[in-house]
Amino acid sequence: HAAESQRTDLMTVTCHVLNEQTKHPEARGDFSILLYHIVLGCKFVCAAVNKAGLAKLIGLVGDTNVQGEEQKKLDVLSNQVFVKALISSGRTCILVSEEDEVATFVEPSKRGRYCVVFDPLDGSSNIDCGVSVGTIFGIYMVKDKDTPTLEDVLQPGKNLLAAGYCMYGSSCTLVLSTGNGVNGFTLDPSLGEFILTHPDIKVPKAGRIYSVNEGNAKNWDEPTAKYVEKCKFSKDGSFPKTLRYIGSMVADVHRTLLYGGIFLYPADKKSPNGKLRVLYEVFPMSFLVEQAGGQAFTGKQRALDLVPKNLHDRSPIFLGSYDDIEEIKGLYAAAE
Ligand code: AHG
Ligand code: MN
Ligand code: MN
Ligand code: MN
Repeated sequence: HAAESQRTDLMTVTCHVLNEQTKHPEARGDFSILLYHIVLGCKFVCAAVNKAGLAKLIGLVGDTNVQGEEQKKLDVLSNQVFVKALISSGRTCILVSEEDEVATFVEPSKRGRYCVVFDPLDGSSNIDCGVSVGTIFGIYMVKDKDTPTLEDVLQPGKNLLAAGYCMYGSSCTLVLSTGNGVNGFTLDPSLGEFILTHPDIKVPKAGRIYSVNEGNAKNWDEPTAKYVEKCKFSKDGSFPKTLRYIGSMVADVHRTLLYGGIFLYPADKKSPNGKLRVLYEVFPMSFLVEQAGGQAFTGKQRALDLVPKNLHDRSPIFLGSYDDIEEIKGLYAAAE
């Protein structure tokens, strides 16, 4: 029994982050306070998503956002919750949200050193039918909190200090990296605490699953079309891969982190930069996948090396098992 009880230490995300913090002697706890408020936002949104059907929180608001998407009530509510929680932390000075056309510059009295980019509710198209949705976030340090500018936000993903997502599914799972690997926590609603359930997540080196919206196949470029063809009709007699596509990036990436394989949202003739947004979808997920030993590629370069020009820039993305991404990189290199 001793071995078992010692192996599974009872650890909450809050004390996990405090432990991480002790590795940075210069830290003053600001980072832990910021994460505490992000976690608070996730708990609030989790409760709202779970009772959406009952609390008349499903359906449309009647507005469209800067993406040209019809906003769902939960898109707007989640956005308000995170903006409020992040400002209340007193540790942020710039906020970038999928749902806001411009960045939010926090008023001086509540300003801190961090910039947070986030997708308050990812997978909105799946809300009304009860399929998993999530929140995605990334944290940068700003150069000078007294004179924050957009330059502080338009940083390459490799400058991220931390990134994570919370998936509101059959359970509420928070997956987080502060730069030393990836850990998963599951919300115990009776305690209101996220408990460490997936310590040190590593993506399997190669996978048997590919995850793409096949409905866009007629518009794919050659390397993507060739790769997907290989997944379905392999030449060397190996088994075809399994297709799994949920349509919520958080759910598709979570499965890819745990089971391995590849998630791809490629460019196509209609959208040459693909669909997923660089700052608050591509970067945080790429950061996590790399921290878990996988790779994230845009078709041209390492995803985290991208330097965004505008808040809502998009990029094609191929992420997942190390070997699977090597394959797609080879196909794009051969097409150069
Ligand atoms: P969001 O709901 O935050 O706008 O993001 C939706 C994204 C992402 O969650 C998912 O991977 C992708 O849209 C699915 O797009 P398609 O429906 O075109 O496959
Ligand atoms: Mn959206
Ligand atoms: Mn999204
Ligand atoms: Mn969203």
